[in-house]
Amino acid sequence: MNQEIARDIKGNPVTSGLPMAMLAELTHRCPLSCPYCSNPIELARTASELSTEEWADVFRQAAALGVLQVHLSGGEPASRRDLVELVAAARAAGLYVNLITSGIGLTEARLRELDAAGVDHVQLSLQGVNAEMADWIGGYKGGFDRKMQVAQWIAEIGFPLTVNAVVHRQNLDRLPEMIAMAEQLGARRIEVATVQFHGWADLNRRTLMPTYEQSVQARRIVNAARERLRGRMVIDYVPPDHHAKFPKSCMGGWGSTGLNIAPDGAVLPCHAAQTIPGLHFDNVRDLPLADIWHKGSAFNAFRGTAWMPEPCQSCDRREVDFGGCRCQAMAVAKDPTATDPVCSYSPLQAQLHAMAEADSRSEDTALVYRKMPREARG
Ligand code: SF4
Ligand code: FES
Repeated sequence: MNQEIARDIKGNPVTSGLPMAMLAELTHRCPLSCPYCSNPIELARTASELSTEEWADVFRQAAALGVLQVHLSGGEPASRRDLVELVAAARAAGLYVNLITSGIGLTEARLRELDAAGVDHVQLSLQGVNAEMADWIGGYKGGFDRKMQVAQWIAEIGFPLTVNAVVHRQNLDRLPEMIAMAEQLGARRIEVATVQFHGWADLNRRTLMPTYEQSVQARRIVNAARERLRGRMVIDYVPPDHHAKFPKSCMGGWGSTGLNIAPDGAVLPCHAAQTIPGLHFDNVRDLPLADIWHKGSAFNAFRGTAWMPEPCQSCDRREVDFGGCRCQAMAVAKDPTATDPVCSYSPLQAQLHAMAEADSRSEDTALVYRKMPREARG
């Protein structure tokens, strides 16, 4: 951290730009237990969470650093009793406030308070199109009905709404109904995101991995719906990595436009960065956010393109996808500097496809649900 010149994992000098978006994981507590949760397997203890004032300070620092929008997430952000104060603090810092929620824990009165405090946009997660599917996936009986009630309040209050539908083998055949449900709820946008197989989802690959046929069909459904809904509702589609030719530009490039704050104040280049051993994550309790962003070793590790191995180093897509996802490289290649195994130029792509194919043909329906260990709650 004392170095004058920031350097990547290979010692090359790097320069940093400014972040635009910050994901604030206010808490890892959540009434749902989705088996594909993006939170780490080792969840943050409730007692370690940043206080209201610490979060307010983070929001001010983020805005001063150049962040324009904050995504308030979790866990379930509504599990924080001070959510209204946190929204007001983010707004007072000048940030555009997006609330990402399952809806559970929100009442009409609380939603109206959140509206008054400055929530600009709501993203509501959808686990399924009926109680049977949604409550099974979310691991919470009665969750679907409560979510539908919250959706109605969201519409009545007039929040701009995005529906987040995480799709996988168990619910992908219901995609047309998910899109129809988003329309009925008055959403301006639906994000249809295939499960990313890190963390909890990786424990459930055999139950959740979509089949190749489902992926092809999903693409057709999305394209047809985009045509039909043009000018009314936007559909963002995150297809399954495992059937792609090239990887996605994860986080728009490591340390380039976004950062995540974990509930305990650790600052992460992406939500799964803690799966990469050897990286040191600075904490807002110890250092100014700007120093962490510009000089922190974790942010500089894979910044830019100089750290890349071949074939990325001489590839003309290296500034398109930045070599793909470091966490996926870690998970599959056991090397965070490797070319994302999704890539057609990766020597591991065939192995990845074979694994995905085998997982997708499994008849498993058992789920490992995300859960807070008892000691993490207090
Ligand atoms: Fe992207 Fe690297 Fe593959 Fe080129 S070789 S497409 S930069 S992951
Ligand atoms: Fe970490 Fe992609 S999830 S770089």
